[in-house]
Amino acid sequence: MTAVVKPAQIVAVKGFRDVLPDESARWRLIEAEAFEIFSRYSFEEIRLPMAEKTELFARSIGTETDIVEKEMYTFTDRGGTSITLRPEATASVVRAAIEHGLITADRERRLFYCGPMFRRERPQKGRFRQFYQIGAEVLGRDDPVVDAEIIILLRDLLDRVAARGVRLELNSLGDGRCRPTYREHLRSFAAARRERLCANCQRRLERNTLRILDCKEPQCREEMAGAPVVVDHLCVPCADHLASVRRLLDGAGVSVDLNPRIVRGLDYYCRTAFEITAEGLGSQNAIGGGGRYDELVAALGGPPVAGIGFAIGLERLAMVTEAPTAELPRTAVFIAPLGDEAWATGLAVATELRAAGRRVELAAGRRSLRALMRQADRTGARHVLIIGVDELTSGRGTVRDMERKADHPLSVDLGATGGELAAQITRLGGTAT
Ligand code: HAM
Repeated sequence: MTAVVKPAQIVAVKGFRDVLPDESARWRLIEAEAFEIFSRYSFEEIRLPMAEKTELFARSIGTETDIVEKEMYTFTDRGGTSITLRPEATASVVRAAIEHGLITADRERRLFYCGPMFRRERPQKGRFRQFYQIGAEVLGRDDPVVDAEIIILLRDLLDRVAARGVRLELNSLGDGRCRPTYREHLRSFAAARRERLCANCQRRLERNTLRILDCKEPQCREEMAGAPVVVDHLCVPCADHLASVRRLLDGAGVSVDLNPRIVRGLDYYCRTAFEITAEGLGSQNAIGGGGRYDELVAALGGPPVAGIGFAIGLERLAMVTEAPTAELPRTAVFIAPLGDEAWATGLAVATELRAAGRRVELAAGRRSLRALMRQADRTGARHVLIIGVDELTSGRGTVRDMERKADHPLSVDLGATGGELAAQITRLGGTAT
């Protein structure tokens, strides 16, 4: 006798999770609110590929960043091209906008997106290797009004989904004019502590000094705690830009705190940078972030136009929203065919009712009426339509009203169209199904 070997179970890849119906219903609500807000601010949706040429991310996010250095899912495809699963979507939006000629010097473009991103970080609460972002980008505007508008949009969105304990923090990262001077100040500060910094930071000291501020090593954080901050070294145009953004937000009644420690983990930023943090999420408390990237479009081969945008982590936002867990819609009619010969009629009636817009569950299997009624109860169905031998002969299905526990079953014409059937059932039940 051969032993039966149970095949080994296959589970999801570490850091890649399933979003089960309860949670996905909640996500849908958040997405619907976000799409509504985006539309009010004149954004259009863009759907982007999940993979890009690796060079796109290396050139935009920066080769010295944690993301490009150690977190990307990169592989060579069968044609020998180096491909990367997108760790973020700003670079893709810019790539697509250039490729399809969406940006012209005299026209701004407002694009939003929603979808999964991939970063091979150490999984922990609120941190995954595949996670979802909702994001938006404005290409072709360099004035502070659009910075304020983006932050007000974010505030609107957070209010709409009733996000708990969230803070908006703002900073300026300067630009090509003032950052080199600041970098020198930072370099001297870090160089004096070189021996106590991690190997990565020692390397970054010469190649990309600013990234030291983004290092997650506790030792480096401690050493760099008193480091000079870029807001103290802004050139006049950058300082004016920041002051205007703050004034505009103030005027709009949106409160944003200045946090000179915000550096962001991607190299493309300049001037305005912001983050949204939430209480109660532990160390992964950033639910969103964004900022200006006025050099990126040109750096990727496009026209010299400015850009600004943000992205919110959907998992983290869902963790702090008070949006009620969406109730799954109730089954309106549960069809219980008794015996194989009732299946065809059951299926035909289910199809008719569904065409008429009703949520229908069709039981199958050879089960007793009692078992079927228990099953119907679990679905929360308002009405059960029983189709047995008698019903098939008479052409009239028996309807039980589960809410009223009607003792005297009522019947409907099984040959009626979906609309008529639905109307008959509704009339019997006395309420709309
Ligand atoms: P980011 O700050 O790298 O920015 O990511 C934005 C948000 O994505 C984070 O605040 C966080 O909520 C979520 N997130 C990031 N990594 C993970 C992870 N491993 N697990 C779960 N959630 C995560 C960007 O990606 C920029 N593209 C934003 C932007 C748009 N800047 C300008 N335009």
